[in-house]
Amino acid sequence: MDGFHVLTFLTFLFPALLVHSVTASPLKASLGAISIVREVSGPINLENLFVRQSGDILVTSVSSPSIYQIYPDNTTSPVALAEVPNVTGLLGIAELEKDVFYVVASNLTTSVNSNEVWKLDLRAQALENGTAHDAAQLSLVARFPSALQLNGMTPLANNDTSHVLISDSGAGTISLLNVDTGAYGVVMADTTMSPLSTGFGIGVNGIRMNGNRLFFTSLDQGIFAQVPVSLQTGAATGPVETILNGTLQRGRLRAVSGWAESLDR
Ligand SMILES: *[C@@H]1O[C@H](CO)[C@@H](O)[C@H](O)[C@H]1NC(C)=O
Ligand SMILES: *[C@@H]1O[C@H](CO)[C@@H](O)[C@H](O)[C@H]1NC(C)=O
Ligand SMILES: *[C@@H]1O[C@H](CO)[C@@H](O)[C@H](O)[C@H]1NC(C)=O
Ligand SMILES: *[C@@H]1O[C@H](CO)[C@@H](O)[C@H](O)[C@H]1NC(C)=O
Ligand SMILES: *[C@@H]1O[C@H](CO)[C@@H](O)[C@H](O)[C@H]1NC(C)=O
Ligand SMILES: *[C@@H]1O[C@H](CO)[C@@H](O)[C@H](O)[C@H]1NC(C)=O
Repeated sequence: MDGFHVLTFLTFLFPALLVHSVTASPLKASLGAISIVREVSGPINLENLFVRQSGDILVTSVSSPSIYQIYPDNTTSPVALAEVPNVTGLLGIAELEKDVFYVVASNLTTSVNSNEVWKLDLRAQALENGTAHDAAQLSLVARFPSALQLNGMTPLANNDTSHVLISDSGAGTISLLNVDTGAYGVVMADTTMSPLSTGFGIGVNGIRMNGNRLFFTSLDQGIFAQVPVSLQTGAATGPVETILNGTLQRGRLRAVSGWAESLDR
């Protein structure tokens, strides 16, 4: 099989979308009975998703430089909207204004000089019958030479069209990026975010802001936690609070879903 089920997304190495996937409202109805929406042929591994206001879903893959659009009604085949040059995969994706997206692009080497953020502007694009009429506008926002493995991305605040937080799973840190200027810097590092030498080398992973709280998963440590954040600087304004620590069991998974659903916009 050269495709991969759209709803079997919790990928082994980079499950960055824990928080995103369970909060996406059009998918909520399928939480009880998960079904395959569509297989995307080509990439062997889907990573992250964003549900557009139209209900269509943008997905990224750690094994493809293309951003795909999927149609939940399954009337149209998935479309590759744009391809980021010279990288092997894409990870976190966030929308800061309607139809303007930012995406983490990486060679997945978990080493320096491997990470970038690109802007995908779909405002001018019209799709008809699964065919793009105007090219998606893709542009480089910033290279992150010192980052190890950029992964999850979330807008800093609902009223802010300029800033995203990005997790660095290799370094165990969170950076703030100004998408207008390309300026960025590490704003958070906590022991709960660190990768473990005994693990996959993946620390803080999926991230999501709700109000002034950042919710995150930390893969190697098996942690789901929250931390209060300044909406001006992106820095922590208090200690990290662990919500779950350890393997998710059935009841606890429901608890995570509940937490995550309460994050819904
Ligand atoms: C979606 O459409 C494809 C292609 O027509 C079909 O093979 C697949 O079974 C459909 N999936 C669902 C869930 O209906
Ligand atoms: C991609 O890599 C090729 C070969 O190294 C180079 O010529 C080209 O400028 C690069 N493109 C971008 C957008 O960096
Ligand atoms: C990814 O690797 C290719 C091939 O080695 C290189 O041309 C490109 O600059 C790398 N991209 C990043 C973001 O490091
Ligand atoms: C899209 O499909 C409709 C219905 O089949 C057809 O009338 C129309 O010409 C198609 N448009 C394009 C651009 O192919
Ligand atoms: C968004 O609203 C918060 C809370 O009112 C405020 O602290 C922050 O400065 C605002 N951000 C922007 C970019 O307006
Ligand atoms: C999570 O649990 C492990 C094992 O009980 C413990 O060693 C670790 O300190 C805990 N981490 C946090 C952040 O509570």
